[in-house]
Amino acid sequence: MAEPELVADCVAAMKDATTLPVTVKNRIGIDDLDSYEHLVHFTQTIKDKGCETFIIHARKAWLTGLSPKENRTIPPLKYDVVYQLKKDFPELEIIINGGIQTLEEIDSHLQAVDGVMIGREAIRIHIFWRKLTSAITAFQTMRQSAKKWSKKSCPISIPKWQKEFL
Ligand SMILES: Cc1cc2nc3c(=O)[nH]c(=O)nc-3n(C[C@H](O)[C@H](O)[C@H](O)COP(=O)(O)O)c2cc1C
Repeated sequence: MAEPELVADCVAAMKDATTLPVTVKNRIGIDDLDSYEHLVHFTQTIKDKGCETFIIHARKAWLTGLSPKENRTIPPLKYDVVYQLKKDFPELEIIINGGIQTLEEIDSHLQAVDGVMIGREAIRIHIFWRKLTSAITAFQTMRQSAKKWSKKSCPISIPKWQKEFL
């Protein structure tokens, strides 16, 4: 984040080399470069080279003084900064990241930004996520079968939480 122009050049080179989407993942700041103005400058500089998606860990990072692990817990989470960035760049896809653990939190963030990235919680409860994915798949299959029944006689009751994934 100290060199937005360099990152922008890298993005441009990658975009020239592939038709795949090129995205940028960054923090809200580093060291003393943690003003909102710098984040806007960083985003704008890279956007100008054609990047349309930013995944933003809603913490600054202390590159001097903290380890990568400490940098995932010690700097405070500032989700509002990411929300503000989405307001200032509504045309960009802004995906929020950092400390997100529950479906309720995901739902809440999605009111303000375009997507949510889950890191450690997805590792910790990967079994839950696997079950959730299977449940959604199973539900979609059930729903297709259910279409064969009349509404009145449909024997399948759909839990509210599953409906929300459709
Ligand atoms: C073991 C581990 C390795 C990581 N490696 C990377 C990496 O290579 N690049 C990156 O951008 N973020 C990396 N991260 C950071 C995560 O992508 C994420 O931004 C961070 O963990 C905060 O999200 P979370 O609170 O949901 O875990 C790593 C995180 C962990 C726990």
